Amino acid sequence: MKDNHDADDGVSRRTYIKLSGIAGATGIVAGCAGGGNEGSSPTEGENTQGGGEQTTEGENTQGGSGNALEIVHWWTAGGEQDALNALLEGFKEKHPDAQVNNNPAPGGAGSALDTVIKNRVLNQNPPSTFQIWPGKALTEYVDGDVLRDISDSVWNDDMRNAYRQGVQDLSKPGGNFVAVPINIHRLNNLFYNVSVLEEAGVDPSSISDPGAFTDALKKVSENTDAVPLAHQTQSPWSSVQLWENIFLGYNGLDAYTSFTEGNVSKQEDAVRESLQTLKDYSQYFNEDAGSIAWDQANGKVVNGNAAFIHQGDWAAGQYQSADGFEYDSDWSMVPFPGTEGMYSVVTDSFVFPKNNPSPETTKKFLQYCGTVDAQKRFNPIKGSIPPRTDVPTDPFGPFLQSQIEAFKNSESQPPTIAHGTAVTPEVHGNIDEVFASFNGQWNVDSAYNGLVNAFSE
Ligand code: GAL
Repeated sequence: MKDNHDADDGVSRRTYIKLSGIAGATGIVAGCAGGGNEGSSPTEGENTQGGGEQTTEGENTQGGSGNALEIVHWWTAGGEQDALNALLEGFKEKHPDAQVNNNPAPGGAGSALDTVIKNRVLNQNPPSTFQIWPGKALTEYVDGDVLRDISDSVWNDDMRNAYRQGVQDLSKPGGNFVAVPINIHRLNNLFYNVSVLEEAGVDPSSISDPGAFTDALKKVSENTDAVPLAHQTQSPWSSVQLWENIFLGYNGLDAYTSFTEGNVSKQEDAVRESLQTLKDYSQYFNEDAGSIAWDQANGKVVNGNAAFIHQGDWAAGQYQSADGFEYDSDWSMVPFPGTEGMYSVVTDSFVFPKNNPSPETTKKFLQYCGTVDAQKRFNPIKGSIPPRTDVPTDPFGPFLQSQIEAFKNSESQPPTIAHGTAVTPEVHGNIDEVFASFNGQWNVDSAYNGLVNAFSE
């Protein structure tokens, strides 16, 4: 009966203060229906329903049945669900006795998951593991001391030798390993429907910078019936990521890094220009941008109703799962204009919360995520490349093989703001709020002021 509820301490006062402040902020940012419970006392009973969590596959969160791995993630869209299922299948093949309670908190870029997890951690009822971006997104959990140090139990020599160094560094923000990354996504992709661009007379490889992209969108709108740029504004993250790539495309890595360090007003003209460009693009979005999710926007590229979409290469996972929509002949991609030579990185990982309902199974799962087998099953379907350097490339197909080459040849790998690697959760939450308003209002002055204030204490 090794697998009983973990004996780690409960939630300390320090942890509670750290996480409850953030949980409150995140609840506001995400605009989560059913939230409203942030700041509640950790002793006030169970709370797994806030923030839109779906618990369709049965509850096993109190440690009652012992060893089931409860995994919370947001991969329910596009080909993402298939990728997760392939990972879990591999895990069950390796550990036939392990039970899995697959418990998604749907919402692109973790828009619902964050609040769910923070409330559960505060209520001392964490799942066995959950999806999180390594890097700065981990820091509040590390500072709050709610994650196990897995430097010895999971990060063996094989993993340390095989993982790319940059990804290893992201997994130990406080010095000890606390996360196991499973993938590397590229963010600075501009995907397009080949026949729509042919009809429009637009050559995507000739678009030199983010401003020239506005001209290409105009041309699509004049020459075709298609939506020039598929997009979603229901949740702020897609505009944040598009904006960060516009800023990178115009100003390069040093200016972007300086922005992530809080130097906003020093670069006022550049920040305003990039906001204005996003506003220019917005007149070419689909009319239903405010009421759809990213994969629905991406579906417009698949069915030929839209020309372009800016997305991470999880969008390519969706193309792969669509029937008769083939790379090169039907869809392709160029780096977002102005960002050639950069590989803007988004990574996902799984962690080991303290007070764990299934410590042995959780350890086995995290060890499995670090293997060649897991990364070979998961990444080709997900649309990402593996963080291990020794995963065979055959299963990846031509598009992801070209991404692997692009990664190897890239001059820089800028960390992302929208997906939590480059800025703290507080700053990230503030920036999300700025873009939640900018989406729809398109008021450059107030967005600029919001970005200046996003970094103030
Ligand atoms: C990112 C995540 C990706 C993908 C995307 C869309 O934050 O890292 O794996 O899920 O959100 O939801």
